[in-house]
Amino acid sequence: MKKRIISPSLLSANFTRLKEDIKVVEDAGVSRLHLDVMDGHFVPNLTFGPFIIKDIRKITKSHLETHLMITNPHKYFDEYIKAGSDTLIFHYEASTDINRDLKYIQERGVKAGIAINPDSDYKQLLNYTENLDYILIMSVFPGFGGQSFIESTLDSMKFLKDNTKDSDILIGVDGGVNINTIDRVYETGIDVTIVGSGLYGANNINKRYNDLIFNGK
Ligand code: DX5
Ligand code: ZN
Repeated sequence: MKKRIISPSLLSANFTRLKEDIKVVEDAGVSRLHLDVMDGHFVPNLTFGPFIIKDIRKITKSHLETHLMITNPHKYFDEYIKAGSDTLIFHYEASTDINRDLKYIQERGVKAGIAINPDSDYKQLLNYTENLDYILIMSVFPGFGGQSFIESTLDSMKFLKDNTKDSDILIGVDGGVNINTIDRVYETGIDVTIVGSGLYGANNINKRYNDLIFNGK
């Protein structure tokens, strides 16, 4: 079995004890963390910005993937890079010039990613593979943690994985991944799953992490 990489979404962590909530997943084996930035405009919810990410950067060596759910993402790239993002992901639906944005991020030594909503034409992403490090397939409509997995997105996972096999592009899946859905997601061949409520919602986070990695249902 291919090694499963889980990137916990800190959106479901307890922000009054973020340090402990990061440590518990890192002790379990995590080396990648997912940071959900929402602007109350591109999505109907508001979370945190570069100020918080800068502080998170100080307490972890994990790879930080920053998922920008914001309008006009290019206006803010510098701030999120300076805050310490290792991968910077903008939305296919929000960018005004995808090639420009991917190049801008890569030229600054940061991995560039595109996130795509469940109802967007995912086949279009194959036009951008040249400067692309990461594809984040949304398996819910972005905005909130704890939503139900949209089954039809399994087709986009399989398609995008099959068609990027000869590249180094990582494919991540974000939204509704939990103990009941994780096996079907990995069966498509994708590389990374984002898990928020399905991990931080557990009483025993370490045990849940191991269940997700080794024996999803
Ligand atoms: C949704 C966010 C996700 C979300 C994942 O807008 O991008 O990262 O927090 O949370 P769960 O795993 O609870 O669906
Ligand atoms: Zn996300």
